[in-house]
Amino acid sequence: MALKISVIGTGYLGATHAACISSLGFDVIGIDTDASKIAALQNGKVPFFEPGLEELLAEQIATGRLTFSNSFDAITDADIHFICVGTPQVKDGLAADMTYVNGALEAIAPLIKAGSLVVGKSTVPVGTAARLRARLLEINPQADLAWNPEFLREGFAVDDTLHPNRLVVGVTNDRAEELLKEVYATNLGDGVPWVRADLPTAELVKVAANSFLATKISFINAMAEICEAAGGDVTVLAKAIGYDPRIGSRFLQAGIGFGGGCLPKDIRAFMARAGELGAEQALEFLREVDSINLRARQRVIDLVRKDLSQDLVGKKVAILGAAFKPDSDDVRDSPALDIAVQIHAAGANVVVHDPKATIPASKRFPALTFTESIEECLKDAEIVLHLTEWKIYGELDPVVMKALVKNPILIDGRNMLDRSEWQKAGWHVRALGRADTNR
Ligand code: UDX
Repeated sequence: MALKISVIGTGYLGATHAACISSLGFDVIGIDTDASKIAALQNGKVPFFEPGLEELLAEQIATGRLTFSNSFDAITDADIHFICVGTPQVKDGLAADMTYVNGALEAIAPLIKAGSLVVGKSTVPVGTAARLRARLLEINPQADLAWNPEFLREGFAVDDTLHPNRLVVGVTNDRAEELLKEVYATNLGDGVPWVRADLPTAELVKVAANSFLATKISFINAMAEICEAAGGDVTVLAKAIGYDPRIGSRFLQAGIGFGGGCLPKDIRAFMARAGELGAEQALEFLREVDSINLRARQRVIDLVRKDLSQDLVGKKVAILGAAFKPDSDDVRDSPALDIAVQIHAAGANVVVHDPKATIPASKRFPALTFTESIEECLKDAEIVLHLTEWKIYGELDPVVMKALVKNPILIDGRNMLDRSEWQKAGWHVRALGRADTNR
């Protein structure tokens, strides 16, 4: 008999995981305490933008294998329970807020049947899995708990879940590993590498991977600062060092840095946890990674000030992009929105365009002006900032755009636009890490 699966928490991670696991042929019940989220999902609607997910969701609901509920009672006959709830940054510090993870465990522990396996996927401080496992066994001695971190990227969530580049399972016994091998049999058949680890190592793999990625981005943004000071070009530098296979060219895109619901809060929570473990020195470099990242936002604001003669009051600033990255409507810790807010606070008339994220962005920052029209955004602007590299921005015609604005000044905060095309059309192009454009 095929395993029955429950997925607790239906945000980016849980909704994607539920639909993908269902597509592997399992019966899946998705649970969330947010009734409006469950109502949307039941009707085949994804409450956020993730390419391909809505189609997969509708397809899986139609098979009858995938259902949703806001009652935990619906999970009692499942064999495996994936915990996919959020672990945001706490309001008064760097640590991760464990309220939702702890709440999920407490809610399901008394309900699940003997022999079932709880599998944590949320990103948690190391030590959480062992603590939760002990608590689970206290309430339900016949159950077990494993950890199986998730590495999906927003914008590629479905593909990353169906075709992961590795599967990591933190287990305390062979049976837990065998059950997880049953869930991921299709991936194993495809040759996806399988790493068995103990519980703390499995938890650490996730934060170590995100710390490495954040460090790589801040490294290239630090090089961008040096290039500006020394008269170099960071895009050429990144290309040249990226040819070394030990370095690799991915995640070397210099610009306004990383944001989103994962990298910033994960490196901070990791530092906080290292402090608790008495190992804070080992992660001191992450503090620097965080500062370089936040400094990139300030450097764009400095360029805007320089170009507008230090006076932003009443000047129209057009901002292309609000999401923390393209192909996502996620605005959590978005560098683009952070810059927009700071320029607005300095008195400028900021108008923000984004193809998908204007609604979530306007909920977060109602004082900013948002538009669905690029023309309206650029009309009479005194400066244009390209801050999220949506494909449509790369396809803009700089000649047509020049006719709209008051001053043809462009800051490419992502180093993605074709600089020579924009220059040929008469634009003054500025970019982070390219000294020749910033004089
Ligand atoms: C990240 C990890 O990649 C993923 O494995 C993990 O599971 C969750 O966190 P995600 O937050 O979706 O995924 O975004 P990612 O594609 O990693 O980008 C993070 C941020 O870094 C974005 O703001 C992006 O614009 C920025 N970035 C990325 C750069 O500034 N330069 C780069 O070269 C790459």
